[in-house]
Amino acid sequence: MIEELRKLQRDALAAIREARDAADLERIRVRYLGRREGRLSGLLRGLGRLSAQERPAAGAAANRAKRSLGDALKGRLAELAAAEPRREPDLDLTLPPRRKWRGTIHPVSQAVDDIWTIFRGLGFTRARGPEVDTEWYNFVALNTPLDHPAADEQDTLYLAPGLLLRSHTSPVQIRTMEKYPPPIRIIAPGMVYRRDTYDATHTPAFAQIEGLVVDEGVTFVDFKATLAEFARRFWGPGTQVRFRPSFFPFTEPSAEVDVKRVIVREDGSEEETDWIEIMGAGMVDPAVLDNVGYDSERYTGWAFGMGPARVALLRHGVRDLRLFYENDMRFLGQFT
Ligand code: PHE
Repeated sequence: MIEELRKLQRDALAAIREARDAADLERIRVRYLGRREGRLSGLLRGLGRLSAQERPAAGAAANRAKRSLGDALKGRLAELAAAEPRREPDLDLTLPPRRKWRGTIHPVSQAVDDIWTIFRGLGFTRARGPEVDTEWYNFVALNTPLDHPAADEQDTLYLAPGLLLRSHTSPVQIRTMEKYPPPIRIIAPGMVYRRDTYDATHTPAFAQIEGLVVDEGVTFVDFKATLAEFARRFWGPGTQVRFRPSFFPFTEPSAEVDVKRVIVREDGSEEETDWIEIMGAGMVDPAVLDNVGYDSERYTGWAFGMGPARVALLRHGVRDLRLFYENDMRFLGQFT
């Protein structure tokens, strides 16, 4: 009996050592230690045939064998579990990593901020007005009769009779002068709207920056000097500014201002840009000063309306204005 027990134990331990997985071990456990069919149970059933002297030793040996096989099964199970590679079913290593988006200031907003910073340094304050405005502020007070082509529905987006999306920031001139007495020195950035065809140099909604100075003794020389100073600070000392005679109902004389700048390439070579029109400007028409109750005999002023998208175009050497308004992240992400 003891001999048979030893053999059983040897066979079982060998089988346990060979076991490949938990299922193998379970089969081995049933085969050797199973209550009904197990080989140890079979042996123990033979205990009754032994003599009273042999029985206790055989019983004790059977218990030891049972315990040691139990330990061996547990040990092998732990071994197999440790050897098994850790499976993490939720981790897909083939997935591309998540992309982090870092926001940047839109190049047109950057231009507005930088333009504002320069004018603030020259003593200007900031003003603003509504994007939905009336014919009075957008046209009439600005000395623009309603039969002027600019007031035509072809050019201006009307919301209701007399009510429109402002076609320029010049109405902020009127709103500011109505509220405050001279002297005035303001910068007024904002969006404006026109029924323009969408092309490389025109978009139906675009940013504009109004500038207005009114005081005693202000002349066109002040305007030219201020603008030349602005251009040098903004684009660098090599920048050229050109004034072309023009017409606006609210300025007399009027001018359009073009800028040409020198771009220094990475290899040190220089390239001049084309002349790019950046603003309409002029001396404030006395009729406009009269409309807001200023004494036009005593006060004079100048004003401009600048396109910051054109300014950004020139700054970055971009050729098509539409790129600034299409919000393609691949384009906008370059202006960090
Ligand atoms: N408001 C004009 C425009 O949008 C620009 C301008 C502003 C011209 C101020 C003269 C003075 O075209």
